[in-house]
Amino acid sequence: MAVRTRILSGMRPTGRFHLGNYLGAAKNWVELQDRYECFYFIADYHALTTEPDGHKAEDKVFDLTADLLAVGIDPKRSVLYLQSKVPEVAELTLLLSMVTPLSWVQRVPTFKQMAKQHPDNVNLGLFSYPILQGADILVVKGTGVPVGKDQLAHLELVREVARRFNRTYASVLPEPHALLTETPLIKGTDGKKRMSKTVGNIVGVTDDPEVIRKQVHSMVTDVKRPRRSDPGHPRQCNVCAFYKYFFDDWQHYWDLCRKAEIGCNDKKKILAERLIERFAPFREARSELSPELVTSILDEGSARARDVARQTLREVRTAVGLPA
Ligand code: TRP
Repeated sequence: MAVRTRILSGMRPTGRFHLGNYLGAAKNWVELQDRYECFYFIADYHALTTEPDGHKAEDKVFDLTADLLAVGIDPKRSVLYLQSKVPEVAELTLLLSMVTPLSWVQRVPTFKQMAKQHPDNVNLGLFSYPILQGADILVVKGTGVPVGKDQLAHLELVREVARRFNRTYASVLPEPHALLTETPLIKGTDGKKRMSKTVGNIVGVTDDPEVIRKQVHSMVTDVKRPRRSDPGHPRQCNVCAFYKYFFDDWQHYWDLCRKAEIGCNDKKKILAERLIERFAPFREARSELSPELVTSILDEGSARARDVARQTLREVRTAVGLPA
């Protein structure tokens, strides 16, 4: 059998798994398992850049692992692991930082955005976030990286750093490229910002139906439709956007909305029930996972990832001139 290309991606454990995580990343991760050798991990080191108390991440790590398994990440085909259980990632971050000019990192736009979001905690870890991300990728020699557009600047930096490392020492690290996830930007319940756990505008995937109903009912709808009898503007309505993302018959609802035959509240009610129905298999799969199984899958995946990482570090240390 031909050797399959190795790809890698990670997700930060910052809160409940939501529609943006699913549509923007996990759904794609699941599909890629058919074609690639996949390494997927929970980026708990990265979470420390904005939340320094690791205890707060414990439950979130567990929840995210269970959710990823429930939506279809298959531990028989993919390596699912916890970043901090592969400490070689941290060592590689250090060694990569020696060949990374400060100006390259200063250029990355996400740092400025993150610093603005967390003005009271602008730490060095946050600044070197993309180098840690590079170490994630390079430590397992992943060559394809499924990510959204927002991560392209990081990927470009990682490629430059890998190139610089290889030129400075020896050709050890393959240059990765982005496998762009072609999903639209999923806005949160506020209808303004991208759906995000930090902003708190999420709609869950495997949460209890009651929670999902509440979240959907809090959604901001068409502001240009003050009365139920006014015609709606589906293109500008975030609730209608969700119909389009999730349901084949979305046009039918857009038409009803344009003709004022359906109101914003009705649309929310239907949306909530259909999302609940659509994700019922995930909710069920998740409830059938025992905590022991989830933990052992993550432990086994972490051990496998660590074996790969150790080998890379031996090569890296030799190339740099450190005792192997
Ligand atoms: N920075 C990514 C995000 O916020 C998460 C991440 C960390 C990642 N390390 C990675 C993604 C390595 C891809 C590869 O979404």
